[in-house]
Amino acid sequence: MIIEPKTRGFICITSHPKGCEKSVLNQIDYIKSKGKIESPKNVLVIGASTGFGLASRITSAFGSNSSTIGVFFEKPPLEGKTASSGWYNTAAFETEAHKEGIYAKSINGDAFSNEIKQKTLELIKKDLGQIDLVVYSLASPVRTHPVSGIRHKSTLKPIGNAYTNKTVDFHTGEVKNISIDACTEEDIKNTVAVMGGEDWEMWIDELKKKDLLSSNFKTVAYSYIGPKLTEAVYRKGTIGKAKDHLEKTAFTITDSLKDINGKAYISVNKALVTQSSSAIPVIPLYISLLYKVMKENGVQEGCIEQMHRLYTERLFLDQVPTDSEGRIRIDDWEMRPDIQEKVSQLWEKASTETLSSIGDLKGYKTEFFNLFGFNYDEVDYKIETNEIVNIPGLQ
Ligand code: NAI
Repeated sequence: MIIEPKTRGFICITSHPKGCEKSVLNQIDYIKSKGKIESPKNVLVIGASTGFGLASRITSAFGSNSSTIGVFFEKPPLEGKTASSGWYNTAAFETEAHKEGIYAKSINGDAFSNEIKQKTLELIKKDLGQIDLVVYSLASPVRTHPVSGIRHKSTLKPIGNAYTNKTVDFHTGEVKNISIDACTEEDIKNTVAVMGGEDWEMWIDELKKKDLLSSNFKTVAYSYIGPKLTEAVYRKGTIGKAKDHLEKTAFTITDSLKDINGKAYISVNKALVTQSSSAIPVIPLYISLLYKVMKENGVQEGCIEQMHRLYTERLFLDQVPTDSEGRIRIDDWEMRPDIQEKVSQLWEKASTETLSSIGDLKGYKTEFFNLFGFNYDEVDYKIETNEIVNIPGLQ
């Protein structure tokens, strides 16, 4: 079929297999260009098909030949209907890994469920024996609780007061005010249930109970802090409460791993265009300005550059550098005072008329469409492309 981008709201409902392959190959090339790096042998990535999870998987596999099992929730292709981009990304990743003799298998399904956890545990037992690193990189709007059966929905709302600020419709470039009502107590509980640390802890508990964790095991989950500008809707909003919970869970997990000398880390990553972040009000405008300033200062990074820095300059050092709250920070360049100062100044000036010159709206849009395999110069979008692509190591 001829595959074109079709957007609905903040998402693109089609994706292009060749473009997704290109995106994965670019990330693999980046990691290979950096030479061998240290990463443990057997790695489980939960949320492995897009964004930071995919970049972590690529870093482990192509930076140090690690065997990876990836868990994700993606839509397979049907005749005349494309798969979701994470499906095509994984197909490309596994194909390349297998060509180089690197073990890579994947499980597609709801990581919050007991069924998918058990399926993953069995695969680890059968193929790898034990896991040395678990990367927890889930971003989901909903979670069906495996014990209560309740379906929790997360929200992106301020706490206490309604919040009004600028945002951009990045498809049209229109900058306008958006008002978001304050959340209820239920919204906070639900968001914590979905994006907090309970599921991460459940995974590690299950793995440990079955003796599937090696000694000196590490696990890392990703968090975000961000600037004052986005605080009301992010770090001090419902999602921020979930991140507080996720961060606290790192300590609980570390306590539970004492006997195997294991440790759980939080890595605070930088703001990036991913399927999840495009859905958060205000963030796309912030990112458009941030990208402009970071690019001008030569410190812009994508997911793969961030993960390379996490692996080589933080997570696997003898002394892991952390902030006063025990978190790894690879958002350090985003949070540099000079960068933030400049972004705040631009924020005041941002309007529909000015954004294309003072911000990087073009870069935002390109990266957004890249997420779905579109806007790559090297891909011919006019030719027939087979939408049916298999993931070779799908279980
Ligand atoms: P993403 O949307 O690109 O990736 C989410 C992954 O989770 C995908 O692999 C998806 O298939 C998987 N997933 C979602 N629901 C699932 C389910 N029920 N079962 C199995 N897999 C499921 O997200 P992104 O942005 O890479 O986020 C990953 C983590 O990084 C999140 O915790 C996010 O808060 C954090 N983060 C994101 C930042 C950003 O700017 N994008 C900045 C800092 C942290």
